[in-house]
Amino acid sequence: PLVSMKEMMEKGKENGYAIGQFNLNNLEYAQAILQAAEEEKSPVILGVSEGAGKYMGGFKVVVAMVKALMEEYGTTVPVAIHLDHGSSFEKCAQAIHAGFTSVMIDGSHHPIEQNIEMTKKVVELAHIHGVSVEAEVGTVGGEEDGVIGGIQYADLEECKQLVEQTGVDCLAPALGSVHGPYQGEPNLGFKEMEEILNVVNVPLVLHGGTGIPLKDIQKAVSLGTAKINVNTENQIAQAKAVRKALDEKPELYDPRKYLGPGTEAIKQTVIGKMREFGSSNQA
Ligand code: G3H
Ligand code: ZN
Repeated sequence: PLVSMKEMMEKGKENGYAIGQFNLNNLEYAQAILQAAEEEKSPVILGVSEGAGKYMGGFKVVVAMVKALMEEYGTTVPVAIHLDHGSSFEKCAQAIHAGFTSVMIDGSHHPIEQNIEMTKKVVELAHIHGVSVEAEVGTVGGEEDGVIGGIQYADLEECKQLVEQTGVDCLAPALGSVHGPYQGEPNLGFKEMEEILNVVNVPLVLHGGTGIPLKDIQKAVSLGTAKINVNTENQIAQAKAVRKALDEKPELYDPRKYLGPGTEAIKQTVIGKMREFGSSNQA
């Protein structure tokens, strides 16, 4: 069933595992991720950025596509459709009205007072609709939808204020993670993560899940991270498989023949992540 992220994340935090957010880029991603979740008996979050939503034809198209696939597949595991890095109240409202079950309001590029104000407004609307809300404090490094930002660690006091004043369901404190591949090993602020978890009672979210080693995943999950976002790793796996298929048979032109291997590569990548995050067999 289509549900918000609230219950799945709380169960994850309580029982020591994290739910993966895997971003959608087109139909094939939705197919691969829903199939992986059902096979693994894992709850799953389908992330949709504003740019990817637009690419797929709009939020309503995404919701209709996911609902139809779930019906065709007879999906039994909990699935959330989540707006990733929502930039404004208006975009979040648009997603909620299109049928998204969860939204992220990313006010992290604004001063904290403004971030809190935006987040509060989104929470008010979202909770009326039974939709969960994620907020961000500090900034994740790397590129997201063409916007490049430097890493800025989340401030403990700001995290506390934001959670207390807004009633958000989960918090993404930026602690050294990066969108896209890491240059060398990631250097995550686990000490800060622990301090934040001591003052906020909501599950934490880890962005930039691509390329984080298993030991760091396990550490973050053991501290109370209940959601981990992955996008680039699936894109790399898909691109590699499609490239291989086209290189091996330059005469190929039927998309089913060269995109099919890409879809399978996404599915296997997602299955691997679900096992690492511990969410397999938790649905
Ligand atoms: O919000 C989406 C993510 O944080 C994905 O990061 O592309 O580095 O896996 P990634
Ligand atoms: Zn992110």
